[in-house]
Amino acid sequence: MAQPIREIPSSHHFALLELVDDTLEFKQGWKKFFDSRHAKYNSTVFRTRIAIPAITILDVRGFQPLFDETLVKKHYGFGPAIPRHDMVGNIVPTVFENDERHTSQKAFVLELIHRETSRLIPVLTATLQPYLQKWATAQAPFDWGADADAILSNTLFDWLLGAHPAASDVALWIANVLSPVPWDLPVFHASEAALAARDRILHAIQAAPKFQAAASLAFEMAGLGKDETAKQILFYLCFNAWAGLQGAWLSLMGELSLNPDVQARIAAEAQSSAPNGFDFSAVSFADIARMPTLRGAVSEAMRLHGPVPFAYGEAIQDFVIHSTTGDYAVRQGEMLMGVFLMAGRDPYVFSEPDRFDPGRYSDPTAVQGLLWANGPGDAAPAPTNKMCAGRDVVNLILQLLALGVVSNWEWKLQEKPTWSDVKMIQANAPEQKLVVTSFRHRTIVRAGAGGAS
Ligand code: HEM
Repeated sequence: MAQPIREIPSSHHFALLELVDDTLEFKQGWKKFFDSRHAKYNSTVFRTRIAIPAITILDVRGFQPLFDETLVKKHYGFGPAIPRHDMVGNIVPTVFENDERHTSQKAFVLELIHRETSRLIPVLTATLQPYLQKWATAQAPFDWGADADAILSNTLFDWLLGAHPAASDVALWIANVLSPVPWDLPVFHASEAALAARDRILHAIQAAPKFQAAASLAFEMAGLGKDETAKQILFYLCFNAWAGLQGAWLSLMGELSLNPDVQARIAAEAQSSAPNGFDFSAVSFADIARMPTLRGAVSEAMRLHGPVPFAYGEAIQDFVIHSTTGDYAVRQGEMLMGVFLMAGRDPYVFSEPDRFDPGRYSDPTAVQGLLWANGPGDAAPAPTNKMCAGRDVVNLILQLLALGVVSNWEWKLQEKPTWSDVKMIQANAPEQKLVVTSFRHRTIVRAGAGGAS
């Protein structure tokens, strides 16, 4: 039987009051804000005005229209987070495109990733190995985060292009890419230093051994010239990839630090994948396929501490949101805002949602409900959807980084990691620096064996 259509609840009928009320309350704590609105309206769908007016969606079921290109379109910017036009080189990054331009550019980036996937394991293992040696011989305490930035930047640029821009330039670009105001105005120019970092990265991309092949592919598939191809790749690798992975890797290592039992299970899975002893430098896709705890741990870090807080989309026709708390009518032109970190804690999909439980993905409902890549976890990124083009690469990079450390080493942190439920943008990484106070060879217990080896 069809349910009655509920009116979408909101706190005020006056826009200014709503803006002040919602923005102030949200700043006092994102988790409390969304939980209290959910309880007050008995609804996972309600109107908010946190910088911009939006129909806010908290549950996995209600999120679905945000993944449907026939129902919503993208704008330039992630809601109120607008990239400065000069920092992106006055192009429109693929993630903000719609229709044919989106389809052809997405097809290009997916093909580029596909062509280079086999290089990812050798590039990442070669990049990580010297750091493992460095940590093993380092004078503790040392900060993992400082090295993580360089490991990620070197891995990403080397993998796709054979390029090696300075990690400090990538960090400077990221720190300056977003406009200080939530409007799409090309008047807030970046500093000379940030623009110089942009130019050095663009130069490294264009001079890289694999750039010509990438540029030919971009021209063939999406009609992009060399200049725009380099700028699109800059955005893919620095914004989509590096900025997302930076927090994700720290969160994953933070969660593993808190869960030594999960570490032990991953180490045992690694040993059982190789009867003659596990060698990280020779790891293969097939080995990782035999490590469900490793894959589950990465999924749990992305579910609980996903790097992208919101999904935005403007309704391009009237439709109905079907959520766990009812059905709601949306009108053409209204903005939808899905909250990934709340959908990741949807109790209808994830039992004991706050628990880090890598085993939960033996249930297909949990796999399907994992939305961090902007689509259902059992779907695949495609030219005609808006799902993260790098979804599989993200999983592989995080799995390899964790495996490289956990398979052979155990460590202690100075402070227990915690995650902010106040500041949403910072909630993707632990609040503390990951300062390592001890890093030494792990005592391996083989799966199914009684003793250590
Ligand atoms: C932890 C890391 C990452 C996270 C959390 C992440 C998440 C996301 C999300 C949520 C979107 C949709 C954004 C929106 O529509 O507003 C997206 C899109 C995209 N991501 Fe990722 N991403 C990550 C890493 C990567 C990597 C490694 C690549 C490429 C190598 C990549 C390439 C893209 C591209 C090209 C899009 C645009 C897709 C489209 O327009 O259809 N991302 N990503």
